[in-house]
Amino acid sequence: MTTIQIIRGFKDILPGETELWQHIEKIARDIFENFGFQEIRLPVLERSELFARSIGADTDIVEKEMYTFPDRKGDLLTMRPEATASVVRAYIQHKLYAKDPVQKIYSIGPMFRRERPQKGRYRQFYQINAEVFGIASPLIDAQLIFMLTTIFSKLNVTDIATHINSLGCPECRPGFKKALSTLLSSVSDKLCSDCTRRHKRNPLRVLDCKVPSCREAMSGAPAILDFLCPECKEHFNTVKKRLETLNIPYIVDKNLVRGLDYYTRTTFEIQTGSLGAQSAVAGGGRYDGLLKALGGPDHPAIGFAIGLDRLAEIKSAESDNFLQNPEVFIAALGDHGRTAALEWACHLGLEGIKTELNLNDRSLKSQMKRANRLGAAHVLIVGEDELTKSTVIMRNMNTKNQFSIPVHGLVENIKKILKKGIIH
Ligand code: HAM
Repeated sequence: MTTIQIIRGFKDILPGETELWQHIEKIARDIFENFGFQEIRLPVLERSELFARSIGADTDIVEKEMYTFPDRKGDLLTMRPEATASVVRAYIQHKLYAKDPVQKIYSIGPMFRRERPQKGRYRQFYQINAEVFGIASPLIDAQLIFMLTTIFSKLNVTDIATHINSLGCPECRPGFKKALSTLLSSVSDKLCSDCTRRHKRNPLRVLDCKVPSCREAMSGAPAILDFLCPECKEHFNTVKKRLETLNIPYIVDKNLVRGLDYYTRTTFEIQTGSLGAQSAVAGGGRYDGLLKALGGPDHPAIGFAIGLDRLAEIKSAESDNFLQNPEVFIAALGDHGRTAALEWACHLGLEGIKTELNLNDRSLKSQMKRANRLGAAHVLIVGEDELTKSTVIMRNMNTKNQFSIPVHGLVENIKKILKKGIIH
């Protein structure tokens, strides 16, 4: 019989891998809490219109990467390709701003994009997402980038570079787009088929095309930074200055245009050399017009998302082991031994002692092998003999020493032994 395999571009995160994911998530959650963020949990399905109106109808994501289907009543639904649009929808729908005009919100969860799968690029992937609503000041841009880089440094990920740019605002961007279009027309015969399409619909995206002929054709492209209005220029200068005082090295990257249309002013990406082609491990920026465009109040906003799969891939190349080995393994022999083992394992678990036990009828030798494989620190050996003598044997797997402990008060005794770190 053929076995059923996972869908292309999707992947399982297996026991042994999840410990690293939990470790990353814990560090991120701790930092979010320290910086005043609260968690939001959102559905993975939304109305398709939400993404077309926020990410932009002419973006790669909306044009060709969304999992969209009509539900039974004919409503078009989409598996969310990112979290920002949903967070904004929730912020508007629940009038979160009524409680406090400043909201700092994070979420962690799966996103779906039907991209061509390759290392670091999946059709279901996970993001750690953070959004701040209600602060127009460039100081929050710097603080958010500081918080983002702190997550990386707490995880000891050092091979990263922070790229920043400003995409201006509806006042100054049209001037840049015009200059860019003029250049694009003059090099149109050198552009790849995607960029020929982008030229008309989304010219900014030509700037980050990786095809060598497009790169060459765009080498003399104008820089958006030369077109910023005085307010946008001032905003960007303050972000840069504050990053300097916060000791965050950055690279001004005039081609950092990002793949979503809602951005205004500051955009940023964390790039790494450790992942090959998929170098962006996090990205974000300001999106001051989006709330109003989606029918909400005219509030400023900024945020970022970390690609959790990519971050885990960087970390898994290290030798750190996040798996916690059992403190106690109970090797039980015979029905009575297993019955006693069950009771002690439950009580040790209740006391917060990581315990594994053997419930199958196996020889002591094979149970000791399993205890070794699991890296148990101690093995408790309980058989009919031990029970009649009312003592069990505890073996320290490190020192190989073993000693008897009374069955009476066993859990309390083990707690004391482990707490005091007594090495027998
Ligand atoms: P994004 O740049 O599209 O931004 O995605 C953020 C990160 O998600 C990327 O840097 C990458 O690490 C990861 N990522 C994206 N696509 C994939 C994929 N197919 N496979 C694996 N990882 C992937 C956003 O999504 C914005 N919503 C970020 C944001 C939040 N901007 C403001 N607030």
